[in-house]
Amino acid sequence: MTTPAAVIVDGAAYAQAVEDAVRAAAAYYGGGTSPLDDDAYDRLVRGIADWEAEHPGRILPDSPTGKVAGGAAVGDVPHTVPMLSLDNVFSAEEFTAWTASLARRTGRDATRFSVGPKLDGLAIAARYSGGRLRQLITRGDGTAGEDVSHAIGTIEGLPEKLDEPVTVEVRGEVLMTSAQFEHANEVRTGHGGQPFANPRNAAAGTLRARERVYTVPMTFFGYGLLPLPGTDSALAERMNGMAHSDLMALAAELGVHTSARTAVPDTVAETPDEVLVRVKEIAALRAELPFGIDGIVVKADLAADREAAGSGSRAPRWAIAYKLPAVEKITRLLDVEWNVGRTGIIAPRGVLEPVVIDGSTITYATLHNPADITRRDLRLGDHVMVHRAGDVIPRIEAPVAHLRTGEERPVDFPAQCPRCGSDIDTGEERWRCAQGRNCHLVASLAYAAGRDQLDIEGLGATRVVQLVEAGLVADLADLFTLRRDQLLALERMGETSTDNLLAAIAEAKRQPLSRVLCALGVRGTGRSMSRRIARYFATMDHVRAADADAMQQVDGIGAEKAPSIVAELAELAPLIDRLAAVGVNMTEPGATPPPPADAASDGDDRTTVPAAGGPLDGMTVVVTGAMTGSLEKLSRNEMNELVERADGRSSSSVSRKTTLVVAGEGAGSKRAKAEQLGVRLATPDEFAAMVAGLLG
Ligand code: IVH
Repeated sequence: MTTPAAVIVDGAAYAQAVEDAVRAAAAYYGGGTSPLDDDAYDRLVRGIADWEAEHPGRILPDSPTGKVAGGAAVGDVPHTVPMLSLDNVFSAEEFTAWTASLARRTGRDATRFSVGPKLDGLAIAARYSGGRLRQLITRGDGTAGEDVSHAIGTIEGLPEKLDEPVTVEVRGEVLMTSAQFEHANEVRTGHGGQPFANPRNAAAGTLRARERVYTVPMTFFGYGLLPLPGTDSALAERMNGMAHSDLMALAAELGVHTSARTAVPDTVAETPDEVLVRVKEIAALRAELPFGIDGIVVKADLAADREAAGSGSRAPRWAIAYKLPAVEKITRLLDVEWNVGRTGIIAPRGVLEPVVIDGSTITYATLHNPADITRRDLRLGDHVMVHRAGDVIPRIEAPVAHLRTGEERPVDFPAQCPRCGSDIDTGEERWRCAQGRNCHLVASLAYAAGRDQLDIEGLGATRVVQLVEAGLVADLADLFTLRRDQLLALERMGETSTDNLLAAIAEAKRQPLSRVLCALGVRGTGRSMSRRIARYFATMDHVRAADADAMQQVDGIGAEKAPSIVAELAELAPLIDRLAAVGVNMTEPGATPPPPADAASDGDDRTTVPAAGGPLDGMTVVVTGAMTGSLEKLSRNEMNELVERADGRSSSSVSRKTTLVVAGEGAGSKRAKAEQLGVRLATPDEFAAMVAGLLG
């Protein structure tokens, strides 16, 4: 989808537009925060180009059109071969038109395309001589760039020594992965600086900064390899004749990081249709990647095709960027709401001026916790960069501080719980109502009764409100002592619904320990963690007897989480006692308790659940898409329970560690990723056959 160009009505508006674009480009390439997001910048430049086409005699010299980097960057180190930009297409039709124009230029249809991610960072050239990294240069205006060799040693994937003593130039993109970006902002705000708005900005600012007291790592992805004047002539000749894909394989062999070792490696496609299939696959994986991409780059792979196509002053004709919709937009933070969750956590949520990102209107974005608001110095009325990719919850990246007008107001933090007025426990980063899970009793009970926990049919939020308001239920255990006459006295509770509800509550007492634990709502333990705890300890008594060390034996519980789980279970002790007293099951079927602690110190350092040997023993399984056949009625949670009963480990994301992906109807990006990584796939029927013994 192409967004419309800005409409420029007269010469004055044109001059203003050029000025705005120049300022934005300077910030974009220079490491500042651009006052325009990428979409707005693209629209502006297209508007400028439209106006210039109508008024060719009035083009201003500063105009960003036709210039690499919008004419923003300067530098004094000449490039041996120009470092060009890329032309864009925004749809399959535009892409097909580009392949046709390529064929016209070369006089033949291209038969090999290299297709890979368009990494959202900054272009640099890395000069190696005799295998040693000597100089780093930014793209600059394409003919000369800035020397940023001071950054050598801070860029992962760009080795200081190649595996062969060759003289070559590696070109590629420097960026920050999501983890590097988080780290960079923590370090920067820790030094009293403003956080960077996004990873791209952070990389630009970091690359150019010379005298920082701290260093933060970045990552390099090579996408080009060329000879330098000092290159051995045989090698230079060989390189000049090599397909792009072979050059990239050579770069990887020399020790340079390329897309090859990511979930979206560059691949070779033989027809435009195959390219479009690959474009879709990469687009589907975008939201899950640990680094930002803003499109897909398609290149004629063969040296002869590239040579025949040639280059313009701004971009080569043998490559094109297939742009993906922007996932970041600038909008305003209007308000901050404080909501109390079922465990009593008081979480801030940003209310935004509505903004459309990739087709959805976004009005709210998560703000994590109060400390995070302070750290990022967010103020009401601020322009903020909002990021939303795939189905991930939108988040506010950072304020665009230089767009402040002085009218912005500080965010008000609540002094009392906004729900019940109790004090707030501010001891941890996430604030919590002093009443804990009793503050939002309705939410915590409705959660406990939910399908994936105690599965009490007929006990939805409305019914819970009724029970709480009638004073019949003050905590989870009270549910199990409800009497028939009490329920019958409620409005809209006839005999049938009363009996059904009582039967469902009685049935719920037989749920496995994993679901009882989950229903308690211990912070940091959702469904899958509750299952792991239950399978490891087998009984509630063993869970409660565990200290932080013992708790850490459970897969996925680290030194940070263990003490808080132990403390919260202690807090819940009276409730757990009452649940046990009313007959709620406190054991996990099929699991065996761990040996006593002193046995463990005799060398038994068991770290896996004891009841191994099931059909999925040792396997990590991801379920995706709609289940069919004998598994049709199972929820995702029930599928995960099944995986774990079969001694497998359930997971929600596909990685190299995944052993099996059960892909039902409509499976999308996870299936694509499994295919990409060569992970074994199974249909629901094939999977049902694998675990047949466990299907009742
Ligand atoms: S090839 C001569 N491949 O996108 C063309 N560029 O918008 C060289 N980029 O200047 C570029 N990922 O900084 C190429 N896989 C990739 C890329 C890529 C990101 C950047 C590069 C380029 C810019 C154009």
